[in-house]
Amino acid sequence: MRPTPDLLRAHFETIESLETLLEEDPSQREQVTEHLDRLDQVTRSFIEPYRRAIAEGNGRRALLPLLTEGSDSPPSAHSYDHLDSFLAELLPFDDPGDPVALSPDMVFYQPTPARHAFAFLHAAQLTANDTLIDIGSGLGHVPLLAAITSDASCMGIEQDMGLVRSATSCAEALHLSRIAFHTEDARDADFSRGTVFYLYSPFTGAMLDQVIERLRLEAAQRPFRIGTLGPCTNVFARQPWLHAASVDEHRPTLFYT
Ligand SMILES: C[S@@+](CC[C@H](N)C(=O)[O-])C[C@H]1O[C@@H](n2cnc3c(N)ncnc32)[C@H](O)[C@@H]1O
Repeated sequence: MRPTPDLLRAHFETIESLETLLEEDPSQREQVTEHLDRLDQVTRSFIEPYRRAIAEGNGRRALLPLLTEGSDSPPSAHSYDHLDSFLAELLPFDDPGDPVALSPDMVFYQPTPARHAFAFLHAAQLTANDTLIDIGSGLGHVPLLAAITSDASCMGIEQDMGLVRSATSCAEALHLSRIAFHTEDARDADFSRGTVFYLYSPFTGAMLDQVIERLRLEAAQRPFRIGTLGPCTNVFARQPWLHAASVDEHRPTLFYT
């Protein structure tokens, strides 16, 4: 049976407290390590039913209770919590290797905190008619969760080939269809299929301006939505061709063309 969201939270918060204790007080190492080993077995028994549900195509129903978990989240875009510990166990990633050198304006890889990914997907209400494109997708948490919890087609565009390779093998291991990751510079990527775009501040400055201009040209062809998180939100908020019900760089903001 799958654990309730409250039990998941208590479980991963306990592990975190014990890991902190291990660092701060080595005198109890043996007992704490024993506890952690037992909790590790519990983690495996918690994760297994989710993986099974995903493999059987029932990921949406399994993860649905977590999609609304973000409501009492702390007011920061960048802090991580028990849901990230849960995702680290749920999504099997190979080591992507050393990151490639970044050009000026590119932002290094950092995943969207899980509660924000869930909140964005809850707000976006993706359907089978949607194609989600994560611009600067990293390991692909957002498209992977979207493919698990919706019938939308999902795509990640990422300049670092190692991250793309790990995201692709994760999707394959979970038997997800309707998802693809491409090694590409966002400035050259094909946006024509996107109905929902997502950006967790992947770049700044002139690079961000260039990609926003490409999105503006796309918006002249058809309506779409753009989800943002982090400082890029404020740059999107200044675009006269976009509107949002409310704008907050610390939470996912959904813009409409
Ligand atoms: C802050 S991370 C966001 C990762 C992912 N979207 C998420 O939310 O979990 C930004 C990512 O954008 C990628 N990136 C930066 N500039 C890029 C560009 N011009 N084209 C494609 N990807 C880029 C980086 O390599 C990094 O993986």
